[in-house]
Amino acid sequence: MPGLVLCPRGLIVLGILTLSCVHVNSEILSNEVPDVHFASLGSTVKLTCRGSHQGSAVVWTHNGSLVRTRQNHPSDVLLILTNTTRSMEGNYSCYEERRRDLLQSIILHLGYPPEYLSVSCKVPSHSKILCTWTQRVKTHLPTKYISSYRVDNEETEPCEQEIQDVNECTISDLKFWASKHLVNITEVNPLGSKSTITNVDVHKNLKPDAPEELICDQVNGEPTQLFVHWKPPSSWPSDTHVPFPLKFELQYRPVGSKFWSKMETEDTSIVIMDALIGHLHHIRVRAQDAFINYSQWSEWSEVVQAQPWTDPSMLAEATTDTLFVSILPSTFPVKATEKSPDPSFDENGSQVLIILGLLAAVMVVVVFSITVLLCMRNRRRCNATKQELTSMVKMKSLLI
Ligand SMILES: *[C@@H]1O[C@H](CO)[C@@H](O)[C@H](O)[C@H]1NC(C)=O
Ligand SMILES: *[C@@H]1O[C@H](CO)[C@@H](O)[C@H](O)[C@H]1NC(C)=O
Ligand SMILES: *[C@@H]1O[C@H](CO)[C@@H](O)[C@H](O)[C@H]1NC(C)=O
Ligand SMILES: *[C@@H]1O[C@H](CO)[C@@H](O)[C@H](O)[C@H]1NC(C)=O
Ligand SMILES: *[C@@H]1O[C@H](CO)[C@@H](O)[C@H](O)[C@H]1NC(C)=O
Repeated sequence: MPGLVLCPRGLIVLGILTLSCVHVNSEILSNEVPDVHFASLGSTVKLTCRGSHQGSAVVWTHNGSLVRTRQNHPSDVLLILTNTTRSMEGNYSCYEERRRDLLQSIILHLGYPPEYLSVSCKVPSHSKILCTWTQRVKTHLPTKYISSYRVDNEETEPCEQEIQDVNECTISDLKFWASKHLVNITEVNPLGSKSTITNVDVHKNLKPDAPEELICDQVNGEPTQLFVHWKPPSSWPSDTHVPFPLKFELQYRPVGSKFWSKMETEDTSIVIMDALIGHLHHIRVRAQDAFINYSQWSEWSEVVQAQPWTDPSMLAEATTDTLFVSILPSTFPVKATEKSPDPSFDENGSQVLIILGLLAAVMVVVVFSITVLLCMRNRRRCNATKQELTSMVKMKSLLI
C-alpha cells in the first residue's frame, strides 16, 4: 500500500520497529456541536460574536467576569486571545452593550493535537497480541483511538478495543505463520489525528505468561528428593489439535544458598534428585515456546518452599542431643532467613548468619570464661570441661 511505503522509518527498540506516519490537522475544526471551540494551547484564538447586529457594540464575559485586555477594544465583535493558557478555557459570552442581551456563548477548550503514542505489544501465546498505549504528551482534549493491524499485503483488520476508556486492544486471530504484524494505533482529537505504527515480530516477542500453581511435595522415604509439578499458563492454548508445546526451566536452591540449580523439561512435573537433606528449598519455574528458541522466557512463577522428607527416627535422635546443641540450636540461623524470598534475600541472609555467628562466639567466650573461673575453684573437673568446650567451638564453626 502506498500509504505504508511513504512512512518514514523510526527506531528499533527491543526488537519492535516503529514506523510513524503523520497526518495532523492543526486548524481549529468547525464543530458540529455549535458554540464549542477547540484550539491549541499557546496559539492565538479569535472568537467572533455571531449574533451581533452590524455596528452595535458588544461586551464579552469569561466565566461570568468582564473581559478586559489590551488587544481588545471593549466593543469589539472579535475577541482575540493571545498565548493561550489553560486558565483561558471556559465560557465566553458576548452581550449587546446597551441592552445587555446575551448574543452568544462559546465554550472554549484548549489542548494539543495528538502526538506519537508510546505503544507496547505483548504476545502471550500463538493466538493473541495484546497492545497497550499511553500518550507521550497530555492533550487535555477528548480523544478516541482507532486501532487496526495488517499482515503483509492482506486487508487491514481491527485490533479490538474491548474495554471502553482503557487504552488496550487485542488481536485474537493472530496469523502465526507471518512473523510481522503492523499495528496501527491512530489517535484522533478535535485538533487532528496521528498514527503510530508498531511492527510486532510475533516470534521474537512471544512470551508466555508464567506457569501457574507450582507445588512441591516430599517423596516418602527419599530425603534427597522433591517432587515438583505445575500448570502451563492458562493463557496458553490447550487445544490438542493445534499443539504448541512449551518447555520449562525449573530452578531450586537450599534456602540461604546463592546459586540456583536448574533443570529443563517439556513435562509439567519433575523430580529433584539432589536436594540437600533436611534443608528447606526454594523452587521456581518459567516457560518458553519449545520450538522457537529465540522467543522470550516467561517471568518466573511464584517461588515455593519445600523441605525433603526426613526420617522420623533421625528427628527423635536430634531431640536427645547434648546440652550445648539445645543452647545453640543448629537450625537457628537457617530459620531466621526462611521468610525472605525476595532477591535481596541472599545478602540479608548472610548478614544474619554473620551476626548470629558473632553472637554465638560471644556466648562461647562468656561460657568459657565462666568455666575457667569455675576451674580455678575446682581443678579436677577442669580438663573434662575444657575438652567439651573445645569440641563445642569446633562444632559451632562447622555449623557457621
Ligand atoms: C492507520 O489507521 C488510520 C485510521 O484508520 C488510517 O487513516 C491510516 O491510513 C493508517 N495508516 C497506515 C499506515 O495504515
Ligand atoms: C506571546 O508569545 C509571543 C511569541 O511567542 C511573545 O513574543 C510574547 O512576548 C508573548 N506574550 C506574552 C504576554 O506572554
Ligand atoms: C473558567 O472555567 C473553565 C471551565 O470551568 C476553567 O477551566 C477555567 O480555569 C476558568 N477560568 C477562569 C479564569 O475562571
Ligand atoms: C455560559 O454562560 C452563559 C451566560 O452566563 C450562560 O447562559 C450559559 O448557560 C453558559 N453555558 C454553559 C455551557 O455553562
Ligand atoms: C536456536 O536453534 C538453532 C537451530 O536449532 C541454533 O542454531 C541456535 O543457536 C539456537 N539459538 C539459541 C538462542 O539457542
